[in-house]
Amino acid sequence: MTTTMAEQTAAAVNLDPTVPAPMTNVAEYGFEGRFEDWADDARYFEYSKAANPIGSGHTPRVPIIQFGPELYQDGPTGVVPLDLSKELGITSGTATSPGLLANFVRIRAGEQLGTSPNATSQLYYTMYGRGFAAVDGRMVSWEKGDFLTLPAGSRSVFYAESDAALYWVHDEPLLRYLGVQATEPRFRATKFRRADAVAHLEAVAAAPHANDRSRVSVLLANAAEEQTLTITHVLWAMFGLLPADQVQRPHRHQSVALDLILDCQPGCYSLLGTRLDGRGDIVNPIRVDWQPGGAFVTPPGMWHAHHNESGEPAHLIPIQDAGLQTYLRSLDIRFTTSYGPRVFS
Ligand SMILES: [Fe+2]
Repeated sequence: MTTTMAEQTAAAVNLDPTVPAPMTNVAEYGFEGRFEDWADDARYFEYSKAANPIGSGHTPRVPIIQFGPELYQDGPTGVVPLDLSKELGITSGTATSPGLLANFVRIRAGEQLGTSPNATSQLYYTMYGRGFAAVDGRMVSWEKGDFLTLPAGSRSVFYAESDAALYWVHDEPLLRYLGVQATEPRFRATKFRRADAVAHLEAVAAAPHANDRSRVSVLLANAAEEQTLTITHVLWAMFGLLPADQVQRPHRHQSVALDLILDCQPGCYSLLGTRLDGRGDIVNPIRVDWQPGGAFVTPPGMWHAHHNESGEPAHLIPIQDAGLQTYLRSLDIRFTTSYGPRVFS
């Protein structure tokens, strides 16, 4: 009778973890007395006590918070971090979400500002003004409406030719959490010119049945991110139009959105909530009224819908960590219809 390899292994080795390994005499190998314990930081939780630290409140949730344009509009040249580190229980530095930091950047005409975050991905959107930047010794111009993405290791100085304000998002909080330095660029520095982005958005808006789609918007992507189709391997950016008197129905995703609002009149707002009713509407929503030049945080997993009752079109730029979430296959984006929740898998 023959025995299989598996049967031989089972006969030779006892895998029951409650039975200790047979004793050996380490002195024979000359190692005696050199072993450290390393058990001081080991902790043990009964499963139900630690299986859901977010649900139990142990790990703070990402809050819904709004940041107004008054934070930078009349300010001096400098960076205004949209800091929620206290709310998130993060003690290692500033953060807007666990992985990302959004900032308003103000540069007065004729002045300059240097940046060199420890980040794999930086995105700058110019809200107003124009200027140029020296990035690792290379020059690039920027103006209102341009998006600029910079990879790991970028050292930059931004010069403003006219009064300028930028929205700057990067992933330094993620790198601080991991305890790593970003050294290897994963994409080339890339500019998405205002005219190109606007032309693409206008083409989408003019297409037949544009308003039947869930969004009238353009997703900005880098040629290097073939798998995730995102603006960097970590970041995701959308250039969106919310037409007058339109509702963009609820959807949700596990990425955090750091939404920048551009032009909007009173009557534009988002509704956010954790559950949908049978008709696919958000139950007991929290309302966030849009502010031109302001930003707000949409937490992961929360249903959100955008409403425009202002009579005028409005533009928005949500920036998310959805490049990373897509790569991890954890984005879990879902949409509702007027007939109830609809899941795309
Ligand atoms: Fe969203």
